[in-house]
Amino acid sequence: MDESHVEGDLLNVLYSEEQIQSRLGELAKEIEADYQDQEILLVGVLKGAVMVMADLARHFGRHVEMDWMAVSSYGSGTKSSGVVRILKDLDTDISGRHVLVVEDIIDTGLTLSWLISNLSSRGPASVEICTLLRKPEAQRMSVDVRYVGYDIPNEFVVGYGLDYNEKYRNLRSIGTLAPHVYS
Ligand code: IMP
Repeated sequence: MDESHVEGDLLNVLYSEEQIQSRLGELAKEIEADYQDQEILLVGVLKGAVMVMADLARHFGRHVEMDWMAVSSYGSGTKSSGVVRILKDLDTDISGRHVLVVEDIIDTGLTLSWLISNLSSRGPASVEICTLLRKPEAQRMSVDVRYVGYDIPNEFVVGYGLDYNEKYRNLRSIGTLAPHVYS
């Protein structure tokens, strides 16, 4: 795809396609080593985690199952509302399963804390979290995040699944938006 018109809206590219892919490869290796003979159910959080899930899953040299949840925590702007609603629940019964939640980004962690306690109440064998990006505030979260791609500064970023008003999700890289986009 010719991304030049979209990439013109970026102020800075934080992570290129190559960097993202290589980090996901490392994470997949770590996860495979940790889970050895255990079956993993990857749970993606729509819509932002679509790209991370697709690429992370393809870095595994073993079977993994995938399921999806959609929750709403954000409006169409750039601030977390803290309100979480299930828009789409899992198709899978996760009792006795090893669940790995796949996220694009953790900001305040409000969405995730809620999601983890919701999933934990369904009797899984384990629940862990893998996120490509983590913002500073998330480190104060009570929930432990086992796999983190990159810790990033407290800036609003787009691309690779992350949106601003539903746009920029299809960028292959991750970056910050130029001021003219917001005005
Ligand atoms: P939290 O509940 O504050 O952790 O928000 C998590 C959700 O907010 C993510 O799954 C994203 O959908 C959205 N979000 C947080 N920070 C950003 C950002 O920098 N760019 C795009 N979306 C973001």
